Amino acid sequence: MVPAGQSWEQNVDLGIASKKAIICGASKGLGRACAEALAREGVKVTIAARHLQQLAETADDIKKVSGIRVTSVVADVATGEGRQALLSACPSPDILITNSGGPPAGDFRDWGEYEWHQALQNNMVTHILLIKAVIDGMIERRWGRIVNITSGAVKSPYPSLGLSNGARAGLTGFVAGLARQVAKHNVTINNLLPGSHETERLVKLTEADAKARRITLDAALAEAKAAETAKRFGKPEEFGAICAFLCSEHAGYIVGQNVLVDGGTYSGTL
Ligand SMILES: NC(=O)c1ccc[n+]([C@@H]2O[C@H](COP(=O)([O-])OP(=O)(O)OC[C@H]3O[C@@H](n4cnc5c(N)ncnc54)[C@H](OP(=O)(O)O)[C@@H]3O)[C@@H](O)[C@H]2O)c1
Repeated sequence: MVPAGQSWEQNVDLGIASKKAIICGASKGLGRACAEALAREGVKVTIAARHLQQLAETADDIKKVSGIRVTSVVADVATGEGRQALLSACPSPDILITNSGGPPAGDFRDWGEYEWHQALQNNMVTHILLIKAVIDGMIERRWGRIVNITSGAVKSPYPSLGLSNGARAGLTGFVAGLARQVAKHNVTINNLLPGSHETERLVKLTEADAKARRITLDAALAEAKAAETAKRFGKPEEFGAICAFLCSEHAGYIVGQNVLVDGGTYSGTL
């Protein structure tokens, strides 16, 4: 039991203080929440996003709440140059959180080769190339934790997010195989599958839906919440806490899993 006046975080040592982590797509939303949760555990975090100002503000905020030095790298992780810049800032991470922006919603009849290549690049190939860049170092050091932020769409496809349904399924298949090859070196790879979490992306997607249906954003958000099993959206910090646990010393026997964080909205026994 947590003694009065203390939080759970103060009582459970995740055993990762002083480890080094790269967190992609971390100036906002779920990536940011993962970076903050890791920094609170004493992990030295290197965060990346494409836009300088928001990234710098986030780095300052994380430093304030955790007391940890935060390295920020302005980088588009979907490009070779961006990944190189990130890896130069943190060449031998113990922890890697892969994440990038999700693809647009729409009808599959409107997507051509370009859109499909973009989705594959952002939501599959980028993650795989980042894993490839860091995994041999983790194997040599006999310690590594990789968490890929994917989507609940992997378990239960979203009708309007065909690009996400397809590209993330490819990443999931690849990770399922690789995770089993590296587990013997104390390197784990798992995927975290967000359901609906309160982030900018959720609002933007709901806005587009509201516009198409000629209803207000508030009405669309209320409808979406009502459709959730828990009757609420997830909080990014809840997602971040699970990510930190998957990166912890205690999670070394969790391998190749797809951990769904959706408040029970996916209705399946397994
Ligand atoms: N939120 C949800 O409910 C939900 C549900 C299912 C799946 N997901 C998926 O989870 C991931 C994170 O979602 P989110 O809601 O946290 O999104 P978000 O609020 O839009 O935040 C995305 C973050 O990633 C950065 N980013 C995007 N593309 C990047 C790139 N190419 N290189 C580097 N940084 C990049 C953004 O900063 P910059 O723009 O400055 O680069 C921002 O910091 C997405 O792939 C999303 O599709 C989210």
